[in-house]
Amino acid sequence: MDTNRKDIAGDERQITWHTMDITREYREKLLGQKAAVIWLTGLSGSGKSTLANALEQKLVEKGRHTMLLDGDNVRFGLNKDLGFSKEDRVENIRRIAETAKLMNDAGLIVLTSFISPYREDRLAARKIIGDAFIEVYVSTPLEECERRDVKGLYQAARKGQIAEFTGVTSEYEPPQHPEVTVDTSKAQIADSVNILLSELEKYGI
Ligand code: ADX
Repeated sequence: MDTNRKDIAGDERQITWHTMDITREYREKLLGQKAAVIWLTGLSGSGKSTLANALEQKLVEKGRHTMLLDGDNVRFGLNKDLGFSKEDRVENIRRIAETAKLMNDAGLIVLTSFISPYREDRLAARKIIGDAFIEVYVSTPLEECERRDVKGLYQAARKGQIAEFTGVTSEYEPPQHPEVTVDTSKAQIADSVNILLSELEKYGI
């Protein structure tokens, strides 16, 4: 895979892309795996983080080198300056995509767990990451996410205590062509993980 960023050539800031000797392919070989980004998208409470966590455990058991980027967690650090306006969510996803790409270039299998509500931003992430991008739509319906309401956020959003809450007062645009779809209201987590593992095998992961 081409890891250089000719796509940002022509930048007027007088910066030049340096091609390094230790390439992504080399690092993949060292680690004995194919790098990828497994991008989970879905509503809050849909089961993204639970799935990502369970899938990562299975991948590690298989000897894979992985990293998990999770919405809530990343907002404590790298993205602590961002809220939930459309503009901030766009920037949230852009930074995650760039971070995942860097980790990919280091040879890792990256799992990302973000609502990532906008189609255009997920497409932008796909473009940044390239062929290694595998979109997983966690399609658990809103009614079920709201019934679970693990963090009590849906109730607060319905009472008007949280502005721009996804699924309530802010939009979620479902993927049109995800590589995989799983619905945690219909399947057990272990079964969904198995579906994901066999899909990933098709991509040599
Ligand atoms: S994203 O929309 O920008 O992709 P992200 O996945 O990083 O969102 O963060 C979502 C998490 O932030 C939710 O699981 C929830 O715990 C919390 N959260 C707090 N406020 C909101 C909000 N207004 N909309 C959605 N999630 C929120």
